[in-house]
Amino acid sequence: MNDALAKALNDQMNFEFYSAHVYLAMAAYCSDDSLDGFANFFIVQAEEERFHAMKIYKFLNDRGRRATLAALGEPNNDYTSVLHAFEQGYKHEMQNTERFYHLSDLAMNDREHATINFLKWFIDEQVEEEALFDSIINKLKRIDKDSNAFYMLDSEFAGRSFTPPAE
Ligand code: FEO
Repeated sequence: MNDALAKALNDQMNFEFYSAHVYLAMAAYCSDDSLDGFANFFIVQAEEERFHAMKIYKFLNDRGRRATLAALGEPNNDYTSVLHAFEQGYKHEMQNTERFYHLSDLAMNDREHATINFLKWFIDEQVEEEALFDSIINKLKRIDKDSNAFYMLDSEFAGRSFTPPAE
């Protein structure tokens, strides 16, 4: 792969580590409000992001490139509601999808078929991530001020766990 593509993949690895930071900040907001289920949702989301970062780390290594770790930006630590956190998460995922499209364009221009293939997994993953956030936002809007339904959703998310997908 060319240097520009290797750098873009490395930047994406760092963005995935940053994404874990973003979701952990959302988890902390929920934990502070004793919303342990929603906090668990975001902690699991952070674990997924770290998994994504490590997937790129391994790929760079497999392709003879060295992963270079960068400082992570400060995530937003202020949310006005759980809905606000999910809306921010949704925006973050849409931004991430754009990043993968750009990466795929770079890989296609470089005729780097191994990377094109590698990126397909992430593009499919982004479809799921966006759909997940969109559906939770819709549920939260429907629930509105129904506190029973809100706490039921919180309980539901307490059971979410991260299982690394089989390679
Ligand atoms: Fe690494 Fe949420 O995508």
